[in-house]
Amino acid sequence: MKLWGGRFQKETDKQVDDFNSSIRFDARMYREDITGSIAHAKMLGKQNIIDPAEADLIVKTLGEILEDIEAGKVEFLVDAEDIHMNVEKLLTDRIGAAGKRLHTGRSRNDQVALDIRMYLMAKEEEITEHLLTLLRTLTTLSRAHMDTIMPGYTHLQKAQPITFAHHLMAYAQMFMRDANRIADCYGRTSVMPLGSGALAGTTYPLDRAFVQETLGFSQITDNSLDGVSDRDFALELAADLSILMVHLSRFCEELILWSSHEFSFVEMDDAYSTGSSIMPQKKNPDVAELIRGKSGRVFGDLMGLLTMMKGLPLAYNKDMQEDKEQIFDAVDTVLLCLPVFNNMIATMKIRKDAMYQGAGGGFTNATDAADYLVKKGLPFREAHEILGKLVFYCIGKNCTLDALALAEYKQFSPVFDEDVFAAIRLEACVAERSLPGGPAEKAVLSSIEKCERFTESFSL
Ligand code: ARG
Repeated sequence: MKLWGGRFQKETDKQVDDFNSSIRFDARMYREDITGSIAHAKMLGKQNIIDPAEADLIVKTLGEILEDIEAGKVEFLVDAEDIHMNVEKLLTDRIGAAGKRLHTGRSRNDQVALDIRMYLMAKEEEITEHLLTLLRTLTTLSRAHMDTIMPGYTHLQKAQPITFAHHLMAYAQMFMRDANRIADCYGRTSVMPLGSGALAGTTYPLDRAFVQETLGFSQITDNSLDGVSDRDFALELAADLSILMVHLSRFCEELILWSSHEFSFVEMDDAYSTGSSIMPQKKNPDVAELIRGKSGRVFGDLMGLLTMMKGLPLAYNKDMQEDKEQIFDAVDTVLLCLPVFNNMIATMKIRKDAMYQGAGGGFTNATDAADYLVKKGLPFREAHEILGKLVFYCIGKNCTLDALALAEYKQFSPVFDEDVFAAIRLEACVAERSLPGGPAEKAVLSSIEKCERFTESFSL
């Protein structure tokens, strides 16, 4: 018979058992379910809601069940529906009457809310660790490439010279924001819902604060209806992870472009690329492509969760069981992508020469030549026009700005002098951009140091 079978005259249809059952995907919350039940049982005993000796027996047996699950000795049952009832059934099978007292003052509605919060908090910690590792890789790489000049782009057209360190540190900003967003979400996940009951609280004198502290939550929920029907923390996490995947995907897109023969800025290590079954020469950046591709499923998880929640009347509805596969998939995908991405970029070869050569083409120093004229007193708009004409002239001659003779410069403006050549060297273009946030060494170093302090002191 079902744990809730008292009111029923018939067995559940086998098809409905399978349909209704979530054990296939919520079994992974066994640790949280048992830890939560242990805290609940201790509290029931402490409050004399159940016999303290029985509470001790429950706590001890739950500990044994946890060990048995971890040792692979337990098989969960589909017709026990979900992880909560599977654990309760294991308990009552082992200790009978005492086990039947565990669910006093509790509903599966507040129990599942507790479990999923605890599970996601653990995953948020794991994801954060991976983000911090990635940030450390980025600062290490950046320190090694402070003077690796490359072209910066807008519209995927060469724009102005920057350094590889500057480019990498742009991603570091994104990943620091991701860590901050997850920390923020962690704060709203760390709210303990037990005591909400099915929806309207409970008549037993539960000590909610005791359970909260035992389980390491920072607060308790403040409204029993919200306590069982809030899934904002999962929506938020899915949104945060979607944004994180946008960052990984953009980075991967660049790495894929840069791995092409046309760019050749980077080469993935053999261990992080694959070949073709037909074309012997191929070395494909599959890992980066797969990460780019996997971003789509995380966005799908977010959309699925939002859509699942949007029409639900208060409080709990069974629709909410559908939260798990989607948020688990989002978490699993991110946890799969982050470490492989980290190792891929830590091992890739960086082609400094190709980057430098790339920065030299496309008139990336044209702005600097215009700025040169401004420093000599011309209004910027006039300088801009002069440079536009000069660039057009160079295109006709198929040469770079650096390759012109001073006499040619002077045909466009008498203000040009011998020192223009020093002013438009790529190194000078980068070094002159020394404002905070710019690509000059001093500015990038300061942003690297900030990021290093971030990784040292960050905690959820
Ligand atoms: N397996 C359920 C879920 O994941 C647990 C809560 C069930 N509650 C209920 N009243 N049927 O949502």
